[in-house]
Amino acid sequence: MKKRVGIEALAVAVPSRYVDIEDLARARGVDPAKFTSGLGAKEMAVTDPGEDTVALAATAAARLLKQQDVDPSRIGMLVVGTETGIDHSKPVASHVQGLLKLPRTMRTYDTQHACYGGTAGLMAAVEWIASGAGAGKVAVVVCSDIARYGLNTAGEPTQGGGAVALLVSEQPDLLAMDVGLNGVCTMDVYDFWRPVGRREALVDGHYSINCYLEALSGAYRGWREKAVAAGLVRWSGTMPGEQLARIAYHVPFCKMARKAHAQLRLCDLEDAVGPGPGTPEARDEVAKSQASYDTQVASSLGLNARIGNVYTASLYLALAGLLQREGAQLAGQRIGLLSYGSGCMAEFYSGTVGEKAAERMARADLASVLAKRERVSIEEYERLMKLASDAPEPVAPAPGAFRLTEIREHKRVYAEGTP
Ligand code: CAA
Repeated sequence: MKKRVGIEALAVAVPSRYVDIEDLARARGVDPAKFTSGLGAKEMAVTDPGEDTVALAATAAARLLKQQDVDPSRIGMLVVGTETGIDHSKPVASHVQGLLKLPRTMRTYDTQHACYGGTAGLMAAVEWIASGAGAGKVAVVVCSDIARYGLNTAGEPTQGGGAVALLVSEQPDLLAMDVGLNGVCTMDVYDFWRPVGRREALVDGHYSINCYLEALSGAYRGWREKAVAAGLVRWSGTMPGEQLARIAYHVPFCKMARKAHAQLRLCDLEDAVGPGPGTPEARDEVAKSQASYDTQVASSLGLNARIGNVYTASLYLALAGLLQREGAQLAGQRIGLLSYGSGCMAEFYSGTVGEKAAERMARADLASVLAKRERVSIEEYERLMKLASDAPEPVAPAPGAFRLTEIREHKRVYAEGTP
């Protein structure tokens, strides 16, 4: 019998501060409706130099092990997906292994392909377990990033930061994955990039949206072909995409999920045989269906709207937000997931929500993770943005959280807040 493999549990770490997105709009002389309804944002996480990619990853991974009572000796693989790594050579994963005092008998490495890096790590872990190579061990995959475009840029309201740690095993209480049915699409483009040595990303914003939609189309069609052949969805009755109970997308800003969903529906409408909406205009109209968006997408965006872009972690924040709200009613139902990384690469995959999803999400206690944050003024946010990345302020880490305390002879030193 084929192994059941997928995500057993997850944990989320967020920076300790955030700004209200309407405060940011007013400070920039922009109509707040552009950021709230135009981009779909409510709040934006703000990091300081002490909350770097390692600190966020270690906090999320430690929380996962504690909340979900994971025996560290079960872990055989630790992968960190990130596009905001802190060293050209030493991986974030090695810091996490050391800070959490995890056993030496495991593979540790980072995966990078812009926002797709976390999914690359997840697929490596899933396939490692499914192949039998894991020999009964579990994997921890951490997606950790800080999205930073800079003050007064078009991308500024789409910044954010945080980490999501995923426990991958043969007991997929959150999501049993349809291994082998993934659809992928890759294209060599300059839509978003961060040359070596730069702290802020460079982005061709509107072009990046088009690249995302084109790559999504290729990845979704690839998945759909295999899913139809496997009998998971059909070209009869409703459209194949409509047969997924929910679809979680990569969310650089919440409005992007709405655009992505319309594009996915357009793929089905364009490829359907038989009578359908005739003209391209009529197809566009049906693709943008508000009812379909409300049913299949809207409920996944609660965390993304309050945290902002977390690059590799954005899709997994959407999954967390979805299961936090609807874990119980979705148990046993198939959902779709779309990962996108600039440069670019998209992967569409599917899985079935586990019977214990609601119980696992209750343990993750996401409401209190967000409630502990402090709202800061735009002046304070700007001050934090201007701090040098290698000079963290002397702030005591919160209980259970890690912070970068200093960089001594090019070596990073971290402290953990005592509970
Ligand atoms: N009231 C309501 N809505 C308003 C408004 C108002 N007063 N003013 C503008 N809007 C709407 C616009 O109509 C637009 O909506 P639509 O896209 O539905 O038409 C929306 O607000 C945004 O307006 P603009 O397009 O004029 O905004 P902009 O040019 O200033 O920047 C952006 C938007 C390009 C997304 C920019 O924020 C950006 O560059 N972000 C970073 C890049 C990014 O996130 N790309 C996504 C794809 S790449 C990816 O996914 C990888 C990744 O994580 C980065």
